[in-house]
Amino acid sequence: MLRRVLLAASVSGRVRRLVTTAPITRDVVRRFVAGETAGEAIAVVERLLADGLAVTLDYLGEDTTELEHAAAVTQEYVSLIELLHARGLTTGGRAEVSVKPTAVGLGLPEHGEKTAAENITRICSAARAAGTTVTVDMEDHTRVEATLRLVEHVRPDYGDLGCVVQSYLRRTPSDCQALAVAGSRVRLCKGAYSAPDGVAFAARSEVDRNYARCMRILLQGSGYPMLATHDPRLIAIARSRVTTIGRDPGSFEYQMLYGIRPDEQRRLAAEGSQVRVYVPYGDDWYGYLVRRLAERPANLAFFLRALRSRG
Ligand code: FDA
Repeated sequence: MLRRVLLAASVSGRVRRLVTTAPITRDVVRRFVAGETAGEAIAVVERLLADGLAVTLDYLGEDTTELEHAAAVTQEYVSLIELLHARGLTTGGRAEVSVKPTAVGLGLPEHGEKTAAENITRICSAARAAGTTVTVDMEDHTRVEATLRLVEHVRPDYGDLGCVVQSYLRRTPSDCQALAVAGSRVRLCKGAYSAPDGVAFAARSEVDRNYARCMRILLQGSGYPMLATHDPRLIAIARSRVTTIGRDPGSFEYQMLYGIRPDEQRRLAAEGSQVRVYVPYGDDWYGYLVRRLAERPANLAFFLRALRSRG
């Protein structure tokens, strides 16, 4: 319930102004966001890579409504990839990028899907030249069909383009069946958005059960599963399935968000698992921050306590 209220508040202009102008917000943002500039994010990336982790960088922003803005976001990604490459950080795909389709044009009033596909192709081309990959994030349920179409459209040229599926959606086991094919990089997450009961599970236990089901499909398939969760129970299930199925540690990876369970990220990497950290940066961090607060009441309480103590 609280989660739904928070996610609804995230689209309110008034709440947005209140949160983004509160001085304390910066401290909370720093926990989840690697910096405002590519340079700041790269400094964080270098530290994470030195710890034996891989990364995927996200230039924050979504729901772009202007063609020029979508082009500017695309250019930021291309420049970022070139910077990472120049520093030798893209070798073996250690640093890759994650792109939100609506940030590169999917939601434009005209030719959104075509524009997003062209922009993602441009980013894929830069990534290939740098020896790394791109993953297309999944946004709210109204974007799922278009996003999967977009990935299908780009994959013939860039077979290593990753995509995301969300276990809170009822449709996802069948999407996993279709995507669990050779060469297909698929990130499985629970889903950070709100959706009506008809399309999504409301109870956490159902979302978790569906995650375990989807994970089994992906691990048994011949693609490259990217298991994005901080949930200790699901990670334990993943480890036991991997052993039962006999999957090589190099044939899948765990993924976690920057700032969440960093000790667990390093622990999994130290025991020989591949772990990739999702590293967001940029000044348009509001939507991302609200989703992190909505995931965990303790984060919200921390935020509100900090607000009160400075008030
Ligand atoms: P859950 O929320 O049940 O949390 C399990 C445990 O993890 C908690 O008990 C706590 O210990 C820790 N934890 C989780 N969230 C926390 C937080 N915010 N702060 C502190 N601790 C926290 N979603 C989406 O819709 N589209 C996408 O493209 C992506 N991409 C993506 C990439 C990667 C690498 C990750 C890890 C996640 C995403 N997500 C996403 C977000 C995802 O859908 C989900 O909202 C979060 O990962 C939280 O769910 P968990 O699986 O961690 O479980």
